[in-house]
Amino acid sequence: MCGIVAYLGQKTAQPILIEGLKRLEYRGYDSAGVALLSNGVIKIKKTSGRIAALEAILDKPQANETLGLGHTRWATHGVPNQINAHPHADYTGKIAVVHNGIIENYSTLKTWLQNEGVTFVSDTDTEVIANLIGYFYEKCDAGERTRKPQGQNRFEWAVQRALQEVHGTYGLGILCADCPDMFIGAKKGSPLILGVSEGEYILASDAAAIIEHTAKALYLSDNEMVIVTADGFHTKTIDNIAVTKSLENIEFSLEQIELGSFKHHMLKEIFEQPKALTTCMGGRIDPQNDRIHLGGVNDYLRAMTHIKRLIITACGTAFHAGLVGEFLFEQMARIITETEYASEFRYRNPIIEDGTTVIAISQSGETADTLAAVEQAKERGATVLGIVNVVGSSIARATDAGVYLHAGPEIGVASTKAFTAQVAVLTMLAIELSRRRLVSSDEATRYIKELAKIPDKISQILKQSEHIRTIAQANINQNNWLFLGRGINYPVALEGALKLKEISYIHAEGLPAAEMKHGPIALIVDGMPAVFIATNGPQYDKIIGNICEVRARKGKTIIVATEGNDHIKPYADYLITVPDAPELLQPMLTVIPLQLMAYHAAVLRGHDVDKPRNLAKSVTVE
Ligand code: F6R
Repeated sequence: MCGIVAYLGQKTAQPILIEGLKRLEYRGYDSAGVALLSNGVIKIKKTSGRIAALEAILDKPQANETLGLGHTRWATHGVPNQINAHPHADYTGKIAVVHNGIIENYSTLKTWLQNEGVTFVSDTDTEVIANLIGYFYEKCDAGERTRKPQGQNRFEWAVQRALQEVHGTYGLGILCADCPDMFIGAKKGSPLILGVSEGEYILASDAAAIIEHTAKALYLSDNEMVIVTADGFHTKTIDNIAVTKSLENIEFSLEQIELGSFKHHMLKEIFEQPKALTTCMGGRIDPQNDRIHLGGVNDYLRAMTHIKRLIITACGTAFHAGLVGEFLFEQMARIITETEYASEFRYRNPIIEDGTTVIAISQSGETADTLAAVEQAKERGATVLGIVNVVGSSIARATDAGVYLHAGPEIGVASTKAFTAQVAVLTMLAIELSRRRLVSSDEATRYIKELAKIPDKISQILKQSEHIRTIAQANINQNNWLFLGRGINYPVALEGALKLKEISYIHAEGLPAAEMKHGPIALIVDGMPAVFIATNGPQYDKIIGNICEVRARKGKTIIVATEGNDHIKPYADYLITVPDAPELLQPMLTVIPLQLMAYHAAVLRGHDVDKPRNLAKSVTVE
């Protein structure tokens, strides 16, 4: 939520900031702005709307402006208008700030500053940070309470003093008009990375804005700040204790975050799934030797062999992957498993007895609720494992151990390849635990062999994209859809409904198919689309009954069934097929047509698929 970028180097800053903001735009896109230091004066340009709207109001780039900040916003405090857009200047005009996060005590601090005579112009929490820094900068050494240690840079000290007063989360980029060759970055709870190349520094919320310039980066930890000058950089805590950090390699390439021949990142990522799963499982499944190697959690597997209970916690699509995981751990490894929304888990005073392991799932690794659930579980003594895509992210760092998805960067706001990779990791873990718990080694062998075939089977399904587009087209004027599945395909129905809602703005509900008759069947009217997942499995006959109930009420049935099943044809107004697979592995296949359906429906309705309204890619606020 919100993307921030800062640049210091020899090049003209403005185009670099704009390019960086475009790469971060998926983090928030309701307003944008830049601040440039120009001959000792901070120049700010900002507007509501997207980066393109910002570009339209910018002045010609000036070669002497080599230091600046940029921001793309997802509004929390204050409506998305020009005044509330970042960067925010302080009341003296000497400080400019871009911020990602939420300042929880902003109202107390604002009242205190107002009593000190400071005026505010916006409704944001961020302006409080700008004014606090400005206040300490102005009052530096004016009295006992504002005495700065001898020799410390005044701007650096003012930032530290301000951050010591602040409660909440922040990723910050900060400029001072009196410091022409310097910016400061600070982090608590929101991601912040400094890219470092020859005489050039670029600070950003994520590596997507950095990779074009350098693959060498410094990942800040919470309560740390980085002071960047023309001569180099150093890191400290906000309490002024020096911290030594080393540069790490950014793991992905520019090509991975570019659209290539695809119209949208979402479509590219749907089509990347065979490759993403191959990479995710590469070196981890070994069908020849019947083994699964999960290096990241290896040290924990022995203990997990004896656990009594698993709790999976996550949000949104990752939560749906967790629900699939619940079936996998229970059916394959016979471990009692509960999946909980992280936002609920963190506040429900959870009971964590001895022998409970918690698994947190997150694509971004930055989701605030999931991170808080991890902290909560750790405080209660649980071992916490992470299943995360973004390497080095907050959840990856906070968990005891984990398995990275290695699905490559996911830019489209609607999560697709992360879901299938999350399910693949959960499946590998469940198979390995089933083997170690001696549930059934023959079954484990069969699952390992079948898992290896999943990427090719996904490629087969992707060939039906055009067919799925015609189904979406035929139903595009329907404003209510149902998604129905049973057993392990029930979470897939939830995921299909979420995908359709979030990018095409069509109301959709996902349900266990048998639950329909307990209420939702009242919704069915002539022509209402009901998407059934009716693949081969023990509940196939039961779901045929549910399909008949919809048809009897003139609903339109869109059925995802197993290839070669002719029996189902008379029940389907529209039929999509997936290759056969053991029931427990089907979610990685059955979700693909639903992703494509949502994508095509959104495009047909004329929506911006990669930037759906009101959403942002990583939800770093509560
Ligand atoms: C839906 C979607 C969201 C995320 C959720 C959790 O398409 O993308 O529901 O799944 O915000 O995000 P992560 O996985 O980053 O924790």
